[in-house]
Amino acid sequence: MIKLKVEHLGKTFSRGDDTRVVLGDISFEVEDRQFVSILGPSGCGKTTLLSILAGFQDATSGNILLGNRKVSRPGPDRGFVFQNYALFPWMTVKENVMFPMKQQNVPREERERTAARLLNMAQLDGKENFFPKELSGGMKQRTAFIRALAGRPEILLMDEPMGAVDFQMRQKLQEELESLWLKEQITVIMVTHDVDEAVYLSDRVIVLSSKQGRILDDVFIDLPRPRDREAEAYEKHKTRLNSLLRKAFKEI
Ligand SMILES: Nc1ncnc2c1ncn2[C@@H]1O[C@H](COP(=O)(O)OP(=O)(O)OP(=O)(O)O)[C@@H](O)[C@H]1O
Ligand SMILES: [Mg+2]
Repeated sequence: MIKLKVEHLGKTFSRGDDTRVVLGDISFEVEDRQFVSILGPSGCGKTTLLSILAGFQDATSGNILLGNRKVSRPGPDRGFVFQNYALFPWMTVKENVMFPMKQQNVPREERERTAARLLNMAQLDGKENFFPKELSGGMKQRTAFIRALAGRPEILLMDEPMGAVDFQMRQKLQEELESLWLKEQITVIMVTHDVDEAVYLSDRVIVLSSKQGRILDDVFIDLPRPRDREAEAYEKHKTRLNSLLRKAFKEI
């Protein structure tokens, strides 16, 4: 089943007489429960694309369909996880997780039940009353992830959710993110510029080129999960994506 359709999406920014095409003519479809990464060089329009999908910005041309509905503004059907976790620092872990449900007027009992389930799933039992500054990077990231899930979105949009953590921690978080995703079976679109992260997590990687923001390639990663980073097939996918990224850079 197709969950998301992006049809001939274009985005142009103007500054005085200067107009710049950031997204040229982007079309792709995402299947329900697919994990898709958007990979590309810095400045190629990844965040712009994600924020248009989120409804935070308007496209200059084209359409986005989620299910059969046209996306034009933010909505609870989409959840977000941004780079620096974006947790509310004045709320505890549990209050952060409850927040999207409160906004949707979910009854208190159900809110409590869902929060308890998600906190347990993300191994945050005992941390319910901690504030974000009292958490490790991994705990913050897991809180941000389950907070996004608490709003019961149809699709989760993530912009470099692991951008701020070191290499070792990043691998651990990727494993945790994968296991949470496998449990929730939700459609995910994740922006990254880390090839290893894209191969570890994605069913499919859409590579964007800088030149007029077009899709350079759409690569399926058909490796069994959890993935073995040492496997030859894993390396092969990385090599292919690295060479595509080099090509994407050259097109600047
Ligand atoms: N509001 C805006 N007004 C004008 N130009 C913008 C605006 N937002 C983004 N841009 C330009 O669009 C281009 C793409 O920006 P975007 O943030 O989408 O890149 P990105 O692929 O997410 O990069 P990075 O990997 O560094 O996060 C950049 O050249 C940027 O300067
Ligand atoms: Mg960005």
